[in-house]
Amino acid sequence: MPGIVIVGVQWGDEGKGKATDLLGERTEWVVKFNGGNNAGHTVVIGDEKYALHLLPSGILSPGVTPVIGNGVVVDLAVLFEELEALEARGVDTSKLKLSSSAHIITHAHRTLDKVQERFLGKRQIGTTGRGIGPTYADKISRVGIRVQDLFDESILRQKVEGALEQKNHLLVKVFNRRDITVDEIVDDLLSYAERVRPMVCDTGLLLDEALKRGDVVVFEGGQATMLDIDHGTYPFVTSSTATAAGAASGSGVGPNRLDRIVGIVKAYTTRVGAGPFPTELFDENGEWLAKQGHEFGTTTGRARRVGWYDAPITRYATRINGITDLVLTKLDVLTGLEEIPVCVAYDVNGERFDEVPVNQSDFHHATPILENFPGWSEDITGARTFDELPQNARDYVLALEEISGTRISVIGVGPGRDQVIVRHDLID
Ligand code: GDP
Ligand code: IMO
Ligand code: MG
Repeated sequence: MPGIVIVGVQWGDEGKGKATDLLGERTEWVVKFNGGNNAGHTVVIGDEKYALHLLPSGILSPGVTPVIGNGVVVDLAVLFEELEALEARGVDTSKLKLSSSAHIITHAHRTLDKVQERFLGKRQIGTTGRGIGPTYADKISRVGIRVQDLFDESILRQKVEGALEQKNHLLVKVFNRRDITVDEIVDDLLSYAERVRPMVCDTGLLLDEALKRGDVVVFEGGQATMLDIDHGTYPFVTSSTATAAGAASGSGVGPNRLDRIVGIVKAYTTRVGAGPFPTELFDENGEWLAKQGHEFGTTTGRARRVGWYDAPITRYATRINGITDLVLTKLDVLTGLEEIPVCVAYDVNGERFDEVPVNQSDFHHATPILENFPGWSEDITGARTFDELPQNARDYVLALEEISGTRISVIGVGPGRDQVIVRHDLID
């Protein structure tokens, strides 16, 4: 079972980093296939806490070769900052491989991300401001700069000239900003070229060879299904394919190499940034959940919006991604609630929707139809088998499994690497 994809089910921050790390000891490769440093994964190993943005979470496991695939957008300054910070803490980062076809985030993209958001006013997406959207826009418009361009100065210069031409008109005439010179971008990018060179290779070929040998490869998705450019709550989404299909296109392996699709889902729901969120809570329950769950973004530090578990979203994510197993995280956070409401369907202007509505305005008007489950008060953070959970916690998990339509193979009962209950092995 060598090709395993990890994807977020909801709006991100479900605990994908921890899930990848959990597989680390039995995995040879971890590949990041989409997004960039908009992602934020917190991994807790013993007393040590690591916050990763651009690097795959597998970098923390000594036996793993971490790979940044072609579908990722790379901010080189962030790449080296993260590498240096990890090395200073004793993590060996020397095996990192970087796709020669990954696109590069420049200063121009970061600037545009920020000014475009400001110009959207009330229609703001609440992006992370890392230049993600403008870099993918350039990729699709075929004026992007790729990693391989760093190694030919004259080609790099031509491409940067082409990419800046329209952007400078926009920056100066529309956004009232100063223009950006070709030299400043080229000099900045070239300053990284020699350090980048040893990491760069044809990562698709490398991974294909690994899979043929029978190595275990984990494809680690950033963001999540509801933030996917095609299947998420457009336009309140990120600009990449965060669903399982992106694992193939964003790493250059065939889709038939993806054997198992693992969806990571929180026992409740959170969202950062703007956009519809049917089960969102605005009362003291919401404040309580946010506090218990430490729901502050790893990347921007923003408070996450919180709400109850939304089963139609898990069913939708299962369908879109072909999810074979769910990892249910943060079950411990619900400890202490007398009753736990779960969204089983939506009411849209008096009509019942059992599935996620395909039309944006219906989803904006969806209110949750809730079913209540009895809570528990026992501390579950030390449970390591399903039977050690209180009856009501077991019943809650079994009910989510039933209404979500997919088996829950792993349950998270705390942030630590070992704080999990494994019901079905993810690698077998
Ligand atoms: P990612 O973006 O999907 O990797 O998730 P983040 O790292 O942004 O956010 C998930 C947070 O939940 C992190 O702070 C994790 O340490 C924490 N976490 C993961 N699993 C559990 C769990 O089962 N229980 C608790 N209490 N925290 C968890
Ligand atoms: P991980 O991998 C949660 C959200 C932003 C914004 C929207 C678009 O940690 O789960 P972008 O900067 O990507 O153009 O912003 O997407 N967003 C995330 N929310 N977790 C993430 O990543 C996110 N990456 C982007 O808040 O609403
Ligand atoms: Mg995160």
